[in-house]
Amino acid sequence: MPLNPAGPSCYETFASIHGLQIMYEPRMNSILSGLPTTIFEEMSRLAREQNAVNLGQGFPDDPGPLDVRERAAKAVIEGWNQYPPMLGLPELRNAVATHYRHWQDLDFDANTEIMVTSGATEALAGALMALIEPGDEVVLFEPMYDAYLPLVRRAGGIPRFVTLQPPHFALTEQALSAAFSEKTKVVLFNNPLNPTGTVVPAEELDLLARFCVRFDAIALCDEVWEHIVFDGLKHMPLIAREGMRERTIKIGSAGKIFNLTGWKVGFVCAQPEILKVLAKAHQFLTFTTPPNLQTAVAYGLAKEDAFFHQLRADLQRSRDRFAEGLTGLGFKVIPTQGTYFLNIDTGGEDDVEFCRRLVTEHGVAAIPVSAFYAERAVKNVVRFCFAKRDETLDAALGRLAGVKTRAA
Ligand SMILES: Cc1ncc(COP(=O)(O)O)c(C=O)c1O
Repeated sequence: MPLNPAGPSCYETFASIHGLQIMYEPRMNSILSGLPTTIFEEMSRLAREQNAVNLGQGFPDDPGPLDVRERAAKAVIEGWNQYPPMLGLPELRNAVATHYRHWQDLDFDANTEIMVTSGATEALAGALMALIEPGDEVVLFEPMYDAYLPLVRRAGGIPRFVTLQPPHFALTEQALSAAFSEKTKVVLFNNPLNPTGTVVPAEELDLLARFCVRFDAIALCDEVWEHIVFDGLKHMPLIAREGMRERTIKIGSAGKIFNLTGWKVGFVCAQPEILKVLAKAHQFLTFTTPPNLQTAVAYGLAKEDAFFHQLRADLQRSRDRFAEGLTGLGFKVIPTQGTYFLNIDTGGEDDVEFCRRLVTEHGVAAIPVSAFYAERAVKNVVRFCFAKRDETLDAALGRLAGVKTRAA
């Protein structure tokens, strides 16, 4: 019980900071306070301690497109720095509509079907708040982005997992039948998929769409990696599959599109009756997103096709450089078709132990993919971020040269 019902006293706060014995126990939400220290934190700490080449965290180590950053800087100095409209600057909502029409043949009304959020993460949190009543079932695909499960649980949702297996991580009718039920309210779907780097083929999208329609579920589609697909693949949004236009919420992220991951500018597209309620969640979560970054993203989305093709080609080249290097060293690389990530098969060695060994003995940090599973973890796959400069990738390969792997 707090000593003071109005909250901790200055003394209690002081005592806790300095590790003194106190009688105040804050009563926090059990879902969040019960979350353990994650392997992501452990790997980041070890990477710092070992001065490792950090291929664990997913961000590029170059500063991002100069003209887009200059546009943001100009907007900070010369533009509007007070609250922008709640749904986002009209110029950005129009740019998102035009961009998706051009790149994905989608037709959204910029006034009633598009909202700007502070990153895809806010869009996901807000959508889950806006959709879920306690006890509703939510279908999730493991491996999954680490924010999903705590957000679903915190919103009162009951997770039902579809477990995807390497090397193809394919959706099957059998697995979907086991996860969907009359209680399914939401399907939280990420394509292209982090951490596997896989792109879901058309037949599997249609299979999923049939389940959503049959069980009257809303699809919450995290498509932050939509522009980062390789080998000539074209992103296929779930919202375009039969029966999905009215029941899909599509989420994108400028941070990923422009390799500016710290920007946290996201967009949500959905039919007007859904978007209205998503806007209510957004109103009380962040209300708005920095206007100057919105201006720069609107500028960036309108850039010529060659710009986006070049970003893709550069990342594909990094993927190939790193994959070839790893293969040459005897690692078994699992094919990747998108995102910043590629995975290797440890050949049976426990992925967590493998990553600890890699960072402490060889000075390269990676992430064990079992960390992205909740129920039936696959324990022989390790994720590397290849969205790095050549020097960084080559330095990592140099250090990995001595690693013994059973998959060789
Ligand atoms: C699948 C997925 N969703 C969401 C995010 C977060 O996007 P944002 O930075 O726009 O919040 C990431 C970032 O890595 C991601 O991989």
